[in-house]
Amino acid sequence: DFFATVATKSDSGALRGDYSQADANYVVAQNWDTYYTPEQHALWRRLYARQAKLIPGRACDVFIDSLKALDVSQGIPRFDRTTEALYKATGWQLVAVPGLVPDHTFFEHLANRRFPVTVWLREEHEFDYIVEPDVFHDFFGHVPLLFNPIFADHLQEYGKGGLKALKLDGLAYLARLYWYTIEFGLIRSEQGLRIYGAGILSSGGEVEYCLSSDQPRRVPFQVERIMRTQYKIDSYQETYFVIDDFEQLFNDTAPDFTPLYERLKQQDALPANTLLAGETDLPPNR
Ligand code: PHE
Ligand code: FE
Repeated sequence: DFFATVATKSDSGALRGDYSQADANYVVAQNWDTYYTPEQHALWRRLYARQAKLIPGRACDVFIDSLKALDVSQGIPRFDRTTEALYKATGWQLVAVPGLVPDHTFFEHLANRRFPVTVWLREEHEFDYIVEPDVFHDFFGHVPLLFNPIFADHLQEYGKGGLKALKLDGLAYLARLYWYTIEFGLIRSEQGLRIYGAGILSSGGEVEYCLSSDQPRRVPFQVERIMRTQYKIDSYQETYFVIDDFEQLFNDTAPDFTPLYERLKQQDALPANTLLAGETDLPPNR
């Protein structure tokens, strides 16, 4: 996952996870049969049960439908089984990684339709909150959306865009885009706002908060606006950006970002709680 640049890295700079067996692309074997303990599978079941209860009427349809089809309520999933179904649906594969990977590696995977999933599961004391992405965040939060063809195409384009941004010194801006869409994005539906962002969908408290609280702003999606906006990594978001549909996400990010990055470099960043003049603050769901 890309919380890499985007968020965490522990204070010591040390990464959690065993990188000694990783290949040049940071891929490891999941070793599902031997790696996970019964206690870890039990913890996954409890994480799953809590989250699954929260999402009806709150997550977008594709998330709910795909999650159900994945059938992973009973324990930490086998990545190879999911890959079989996923590859048929959208041509994506899951690869196991020890944890956070370098930005370049992360983008290379996405650009080749491979989604890196952290192998290890959080510990009991991290049930409600974890700093680094673990298998629950990566799998439960991100994988269901990969079954949507447009989202799947978008994420590949994002990966290519990441490789390009590295050369253009645009990573900070592209990270904001990832944060406010892939991790914390909202989407309109006929029944009201719905969640598609993995950071929300794998979180116990933010699922309800992002849709119903009066606190945060909910602003229509706009690429340049997002790229100017700072974000919070250690609290609920102060602003959510709302897409009309995945086509909008795909189409609005398709133009060449080169001139955009140049423009952004000349501008100051906006604080996370900004509401610009003329900008709509969409009402919460009731
Ligand atoms: N269009 C972007 C560019 O030219 C690449 C990109 C696509 C970035 C999709 C994010 C998402 O750099
Ligand atoms: Fe993530």
